[in-house]
Amino acid sequence: MSEPGDVTAARSRFRRSLSGDVAARLSGVGKAAQDASERTSGPAGEPNGLSERGIVASLQARLIDHLRRHDLLGADEEAVRAEIDAFVLDVLATESFALNEDERAHLAEELVEEALGMGPLAPLMADPAVTDILVNGADQVYVERFGRLERAPVRFRDDEHVLRIIDRLASRIGRRIDQSWPMVDLRLADGSRVNATIPPAALDGPTISIRRFGLRRLRKADLLRLGSISEAMMGFLDLAVQCRRNVLISGGTGAGKSTLLGVLAEAIPEDDRIVTIEDTAELELAQPHVVRLETRPPNTEGRGEITARDLVINALRMRPTRIILGEVRGAEALDMLQAMNTGHEGGLSTIHANSSRDALARLETMVLFAGTDLPSRAIREQITSAIHLIVQVRRYEDGARRVERISEVTGLEGQTPLVQDLFVFHVTSRSRRRVEGRFEATGIVPRFVEEAREAGLEVDPSMFSRPGLGD
Ligand SMILES: Nc1ncnc2c1ncn2[C@@H]1O[C@H](COP(=O)(O)OP(=O)(O)OP(=O)(O)O)[C@@H](O)[C@H]1O
Ligand SMILES: [Mg+2]
Repeated sequence: MSEPGDVTAARSRFRRSLSGDVAARLSGVGKAAQDASERTSGPAGEPNGLSERGIVASLQARLIDHLRRHDLLGADEEAVRAEIDAFVLDVLATESFALNEDERAHLAEELVEEALGMGPLAPLMADPAVTDILVNGADQVYVERFGRLERAPVRFRDDEHVLRIIDRLASRIGRRIDQSWPMVDLRLADGSRVNATIPPAALDGPTISIRRFGLRRLRKADLLRLGSISEAMMGFLDLAVQCRRNVLISGGTGAGKSTLLGVLAEAIPEDDRIVTIEDTAELELAQPHVVRLETRPPNTEGRGEITARDLVINALRMRPTRIILGEVRGAEALDMLQAMNTGHEGGLSTIHANSSRDALARLETMVLFAGTDLPSRAIREQITSAIHLIVQVRRYEDGARRVERISEVTGLEGQTPLVQDLFVFHVTSRSRRRVEGRFEATGIVPRFVEEAREAGLEVDPSMFSRPGLGD
């Protein structure tokens, strides 16, 4: 799917117009704004004051407050636009620094876009603690903050109002949503992923589901700090990635699959040529040599679709060192497995499944989607020889996401895939508010460790020792 073109263009114009000097002056405003609006502060870690995005976000929060006080949040476009222009002039006048006319216009443009684009959702979008926004019709808006879903104190005037916002979002990327195709997926300029589904597919009114990525992606250090994975397990997975194992991350919706995928990809060496394939580009890789591919749904005439399968096949002709498939969900499974089995090792992907066995079973079903006439045993052979490790992630009932287990796929015995756990999260006590437990190795040393040692990589065998059995 393409970037929302005009918004992106407006943003990049805006960014370009912010010379370093202006950004520095603006960050003063941003800080003042953030102090003023006593919001939950976002994730720490902007070393030199706020980022440009942070500046706009904090001005945004102040603007929304302003619009709310003047009862303009749901007002029509012209009124809001005029008020924003006035707001920008006012901010600039009172914050004792000057922007030139162009910079001022760009700032206003950015703020208008944010305020109008999302309607009543704008205050939620401006809250850095909000990770998901879910609209079920005009009256029901939920947000997820710190892993918990809660009802948000905002509402749309009526379903028509929700539809208008959806329309506006869809038209930015040149799509139409209507009864004949009542679903659309898109990505906002800040990276957030949006799905809108309207009647007749949605029975109780138009819905919007937003997964936010704009503010900050969780990185390795975050997962360790949050207790989502142990140091030993992280070290092991890094080693596996460096040794070009094919790793599949499995889990339910929102369990943290894509986040972990991004974190594992951090271990890919800088000189590898990485090709990524996603439905909506979410991965933000720091490596220099990355080619990003994105699938496309068919246009309104039903043409122009680019499937993940097309892209996997295409990626193989791009001389990749590694292919990262954001999520395997259909016929591309076959091509991915074939690639993994024919020298394109070190592949990473995610799959929607509840256990490692379930993941393998689903892969098999997906391979059948590809229309292959391979017998089931041959398919299983292909799967079990391609996939080396399965990492099961889970969102526990206390809202925390953890790596539940890391398993090694060692082969096929008869018709049954052989899967052995290497690391497990053992729950010691659980309640709805708090789940406690510990990450443990099972004592099994994975097969490739010998290879890793031969390749000169240092492997500390104690990472696999089971607690209580002596190191
Ligand atoms: N270990 C973690 N601790 C806390 N929050 C996390 C963790 N991992 C992911 N998250 C947050 O959970 C949300 C969902 O994460 P992510 O997109 O990685 O899940 P997913 O399993 O790929 O979801 P989907 O099924 O929609 O593809 C994001 O807001 C992300 O920041
Ligand atoms: Mg995902």
